[in-house]
Amino acid sequence: MSNKPTFDLITIFPEYMAPLNLSLIGKAQEKGLVEIAVHDLRQHATNVHHSVDDTPYGGGAGMVMMPEPWGKAIDQVAAQRPGTIHDLIILTPAGRRFNQSIAQEMSSYEHMIFACGRYEGIDIRVTEHYQNTPGFRVHELSIGDYVLNGGEVATLAIMESIIRLIPGVLGNPESIVEESHSITTADGGVLLEYPSYTKPAEWRGLPVPEVLLSGNHALIEKWRAEQASARTQKVQNHLK
Ligand code: ADE
Repeated sequence: MSNKPTFDLITIFPEYMAPLNLSLIGKAQEKGLVEIAVHDLRQHATNVHHSVDDTPYGGGAGMVMMPEPWGKAIDQVAAQRPGTIHDLIILTPAGRRFNQSIAQEMSSYEHMIFACGRYEGIDIRVTEHYQNTPGFRVHELSIGDYVLNGGEVATLAIMESIIRLIPGVLGNPESIVEESHSITTADGGVLLEYPSYTKPAEWRGLPVPEVLLSGNHALIEKWRAEQASARTQKVQNHLK
């Protein structure tokens, strides 16, 4: 068994990461299944004003995060884990689109460093430098085709999807197997989950489908497969 997964988050808003102490992720930390540390980028600012951004070379709107504080912050957290592969995750709308199979892959990583950029992003030389640094793997990731104010919310989303896949984190590990996006279809797409019902058997005039009350497991499985497929089709048509 490898060491427990460790997450070092670097941000100018450490308070943004407070939700990681709640619910399943909070419990996963308490149980020692994962280790999470949050670091303030500003502590690595090199000028008297503690600024971490500057105007873009070539002109244009907005500010760009300077490479110097990032280099210092990343080197420091990497130095705490010698001999480990450091997966440096840089959040940017220009990154590869994150999905369930990337979450699955990342759930086996040992040391992840999340770099939460703000403003117009981080000077690209940070990416280039660590791509060429032994012991590092760099992943530029986006959580969707929209622009956030920074990488913090993206980090929270990605971490939640990774941590729930780590053995021991979820009470019922079987729930992972059946859920949306974890089932691959013949054409390489992902199947969305079938709709769920619980008590009461009728709510505001809406009954639970008869088949789910039948106790016939083969029929229930067939119905669920049809529903999952219809749902997937509907969403795909909507996206076209
Ligand atoms: N930073 C700003 N927008 C983002 C997005 N869509 N995904 C990841 N990081 C971001």
